[in-house]
Amino acid sequence: TQRPALIPIRGVPMIKYFAENWGEVEGFQAQPDDLLISTYPKSGTTWISEIVDMIYNDGDTEKCKREAIYMRVPFLEFAVPGIPTGVELLQKRPSRRLVKTHLPVQLLPESFWEQDCKMIYMARNAKDVAVSYYYFYQMAKVHPDPGSWDHFLDDFTAGRVSFGSWHQHVRGWWEKRREHRMLYLFYEDMKEDPRREIRKVLEFLGRPPSEGLVEAIAQHTSFTKMKQNFMANYKTIPTSVMDHSISPFMRKGVTGDWKNQFTVAQNERFDADYERQMEGTDLSFRMEI
Ligand code: A3P
Repeated sequence: TQRPALIPIRGVPMIKYFAENWGEVEGFQAQPDDLLISTYPKSGTTWISEIVDMIYNDGDTEKCKREAIYMRVPFLEFAVPGIPTGVELLQKRPSRRLVKTHLPVQLLPESFWEQDCKMIYMARNAKDVAVSYYYFYQMAKVHPDPGSWDHFLDDFTAGRVSFGSWHQHVRGWWEKRREHRMLYLFYEDMKEDPRREIRKVLEFLGRPPSEGLVEAIAQHTSFTKMKQNFMANYKTIPTSVMDHSISPFMRKGVTGDWKNQFTVAQNERFDADYERQMEGTDLSFRMEI
């Protein structure tokens, strides 16, 4: 079947079905006790969502396994024919909702700022994101055909991918954290020392960082455990939308995998452009740990 082209929303390329549902998203009414989890795609969204969900369920793994992750932590802008939209799912959730989004900061519905919701942003280095996104584009068929890796890397660099430019995304949210209640986390830090980062999240949410809880969360949200966890893997989404036989959702879960994908020439091109696009920011990333 034909894959749909991206459609721009205020200049940001978006999955066609999401763009068609934009009115519902833009008018979304946030509540003061909503917690927003924001990421550029492929930056550890599911990982941080599972961590926060464990915190909200006081470390009860069984509760966390009862329902699919995208039901427990609905994806605000999600819309695909035949499946409830993210907004529909959110409207059915009890209060203290967890809301997941990939929107660049300028597209976030106004009500999140008006209600002064707490926000957790998780960022991951551009090269690993590009590789992960390439495989995700192949398996999640709501995206256009990514073409060759070389072609996709050009599109990624130029921001011609769903949710637009990685550079603008991480920079936009980084600036906004200065004036808002936001915890800005890095995938690489989480890989390096998950327990340390989990403690940060607990502190941000005003919860005592009991060692038992930290340990339970770290174990339940390890890559191995999450890969085996049916409810954390989007395995309940129809294969017409996500085909795990093309590429698993939990693919490798490491930092530095880009070295297996980038050629030397691609890496040099990417670095030169990166320097231009990241000029003047104090935001920096580790590409290996
Ligand atoms: P890879 O494709 O590099 O393996 P998102 O949830 O934002 O779509 O991000 C998906 C990426 O996060 C995938 O990266 C996936 O493997 C990785 N990931 C998910 N859970 C993880 C975990 N518990 N530990 C490490 N990486 C994880």
